[in-house]
Amino acid sequence: VAPVIAIDGPSGSGKGTLSQMLASRLGYHLLDSGALYRLVALAALNKKQELDDESGLARIAAALDVRFETDGQSTRIFLDGNHVSDAIRTEDVGMAASKVAAYPAVRDALLARQRGFAQIPGLVADGRDMGTTVFPDAEHKIFLTASAEARADRRCKQLSAKGIFVNRDEVIRDIQARDERDINRSVSPLKPAIDAVVIDSTRMTIDEVFAAMLDIVRR
Ligand code: C5P
Repeated sequence: VAPVIAIDGPSGSGKGTLSQMLASRLGYHLLDSGALYRLVALAALNKKQELDDESGLARIAAALDVRFETDGQSTRIFLDGNHVSDAIRTEDVGMAASKVAAYPAVRDALLARQRGFAQIPGLVADGRDMGTTVFPDAEHKIFLTASAEARADRRCKQLSAKGIFVNRDEVIRDIQARDERDINRSVSPLKPAIDAVVIDSTRMTIDEVFAAMLDIVRR
């Protein structure tokens, strides 16, 4: 079986960037499981599916027609043949994703699809429940975290680099609302697996976190 490295943590912890860096460095496949929840949300919004209809959302999740095209550095995502890499990254879709992700039937519908990403030579799996639910036998488990303020500042910086200026307090509130939903949901809540190594990156640079991660996976 292919080795799996599970990277979990809250929104804005740097998981996405660091998981991509780690996958590139190791030559592994990458699973961006958050993108799957975002795709379910986008498909539901496109189909005018109510976001409180669990079985309707689970049907959308099970039937999701998605393609990930990767060149080893970045990934292009297609939904029903349309390029949606940017469309799934909006705040609205992120908030809707965090709502649909709270439904057990939606999570169930995505489980086998996520496990299918574990292929030779290996997989870096980025999400909230990679080490606890999807890949409980992962070779390495890392839980990345940082204070809500630090995560909000990184998010504001990312957005301002794109010419988008947002209110810091609003971003902090959004992050806290999303954390709350992720931590308190009934299935696969956000928490470190008992055998995960926790890295708090509040006072670390991205290069320092990456070095710490390489250290862990080479142990
Ligand atoms: O990581 P990202 O922000 O793209 O994830 C979008 C949403 O999907 C999160 O807010 C979270 O609620 C949900 N999610 C999840 N389990 C995962 C990955 C993401 O519940 N493994």
